[in-house]
Amino acid sequence: MLKIWKHLPVKIVLATRNKKKTEEIRRILADTGMELFNLTAFPACPEVLEDGQTFTENADKKALEVARYTQLPALADDSGLVVDCLGGAPGVWSARYAGPGADDAANLNKLLQAVRNVPLAERSARFECVISMACPDGRLRRFHGSVSGRIIDEPRGGNGFGYDPAFVPDGLQQTFAEMAGEQKDSISHRGRALAALAEALQTAGEKNLSCE
Ligand code: IMP
Repeated sequence: MLKIWKHLPVKIVLATRNKKKTEEIRRILADTGMELFNLTAFPACPEVLEDGQTFTENADKKALEVARYTQLPALADDSGLVVDCLGGAPGVWSARYAGPGADDAANLNKLLQAVRNVPLAERSARFECVISMACPDGRLRRFHGSVSGRIIDEPRGGNGFGYDPAFVPDGLQQTFAEMAGEQKDSISHRGRALAALAEALQTAGEKNLSCE
């Protein structure tokens, strides 16, 4: 957990409706004093079309559009799994790998099928995360985190979300889905990107965070 601010009353909107992603971001930033909402608190906020070719383009777009709509600082996470033997797929299309509206189970199943005939030693992969934080006036800051690992044969574990049951970080034996949340956060792409954000904002001071 990041213990940076004591009780800083700054309202920040997470530019997502994804329950699991929100849960992780809230857990990682729990001790910072930020008051975090997600888009379920803004039901009329238009859906942002994620049509970028990179995590950065999508994260920037989500943060800027949501900050403009809500008139609050907005934090967007764009993330996904990059698998080397699949030419980088699913990449920016991680959430829609098995088709538009596909759920986690369908995406995971498609991934496991795609690597079925690839030797374990050639299944290197990494999770990437870009966090963009935007002010309503268009100011933007960006942070990046990644974690390398490999894709296994069969899903293992019931924690986490998305591709977690198939991903084992380098140097470890457990999948992300077999780890407690805090253990995943301490090495995950999202944990690393948010640690960079916390550090930068601490250096820059509290004013920057509240977009004043
Ligand atoms: P986004 O909402 O467009 O950023 O899509 C993120 C997608 O990438 C998710 O739906 C998951 O499929 C995958 N993903 C991102 N982060 C993680 C993670 O921490 N664990 C497992 N899957 C993840």
